[in-house]
Amino acid sequence: MTTIDPSIGTDRARAIFDEELAGVASAAALQELRNRWMARSGSWVAAFMDLIARATPDQKKALGRGANELKKHVEVALADREAALSATRRPAGAVDVTLPGRAPRLGCRHPLSLVREEVGAIFSRLGYQVLEGPEIEDDYHNFEALNMPAEHPARDMQDTLYLANPLTPASYAPPTRGLAPRAPQPLTLLRTHTSAMQIRQMERHDPPVRLVAIGPVYRRDNLDLTHTPMFHQVEGLVVGRGITLADLKGTLTSMAAALFGPATRGDESARSGQAPLVRFRPSFFPYTEPSAEVDIRCIRCGGEGCPMCKRTGWLEILGSGMVHPAVFEYVGYDPDEVTGFAFGMGIERVALLKWGVEDIRLFYENDLRFLEQFGR
Ligand code: DAH
Repeated sequence: MTTIDPSIGTDRARAIFDEELAGVASAAALQELRNRWMARSGSWVAAFMDLIARATPDQKKALGRGANELKKHVEVALADREAALSATRRPAGAVDVTLPGRAPRLGCRHPLSLVREEVGAIFSRLGYQVLEGPEIEDDYHNFEALNMPAEHPARDMQDTLYLANPLTPASYAPPTRGLAPRAPQPLTLLRTHTSAMQIRQMERHDPPVRLVAIGPVYRRDNLDLTHTPMFHQVEGLVVGRGITLADLKGTLTSMAAALFGPATRGDESARSGQAPLVRFRPSFFPYTEPSAEVDIRCIRCGGEGCPMCKRTGWLEILGSGMVHPAVFEYVGYDPDEVTGFAFGMGIERVALLKWGVEDIRLFYENDLRFLEQFGR
């Protein structure tokens, strides 16, 4: 940058200005140039004015004309350049349509939702009603009417989460039949299983009944590899004339085949003469008689024994049985007229087995690296 020196004359100064202006590329640089040339003091123009003030009357005329022309030239050139710069500036908020697009990230279904929907779809195809039902329950539906009286160990504070302030239900209609109290009971607990939905449905509807109820349940468990205080269950109930244990076995065998694939197909094994790939083990539940737990042949080792099946060759997937006559009495069904079967299965357990996941907590940690592995 040339030092300000008016003794070089206005023509030379003008050439210097033109040169400096040519190098200006931004509004800030233009402003700097303006200050350098036009400011009241310390600028080129100010320096020429000083020179004129100090000149002899003869010199003043010529100097004055030259200085005025320089000033006018600088003003016009600065204004032109300013207009040119603002014409090329992008207006605020402008969209650059030439930029490559940003693809929206696609989410994926949660593995528990996938199992939930799959189970719902299997049973809808079989003509079952798919229900949800309340998560805050009363003692009557969660325990008593399922043949678990007041002193039953399953009602222990160790296992059940009770409400500090029971709610008085406003929205639950009182049952229409059965031994259930006519007035709605205060809601005292978080349901410990979806079996409560068996009672809710039967006390409002005549047989036949064919339902699955899917949703969250709660237990006083600490978090570990296989336990969470909230998890999901699917409950099944079929009631009608002439329902037998054979119906229970057929239904649960085909459900296992649909959920876990051909490895567990009872029909295939029957055809090939192999040992059955689903087995029913005698068990006990207060609301079924007889009761059975259902195992599938280990999907990792095929039955040979591995750490996943604890070397037994079998994986337990659910509890089931023929509905206990006492339950029918609670809901006002005649146990001499109808029979039924019921089952309850953990959704998390199915997901753990189906995909070989080793820690149930992964389902709740919202780690996308885990969640993105299960397909859309
Ligand atoms: N309610 C049982 C549980 O939470 C599961 C169950 C077992 C449900 C047998 C049933 C049944 O309907 O018949 O472990």
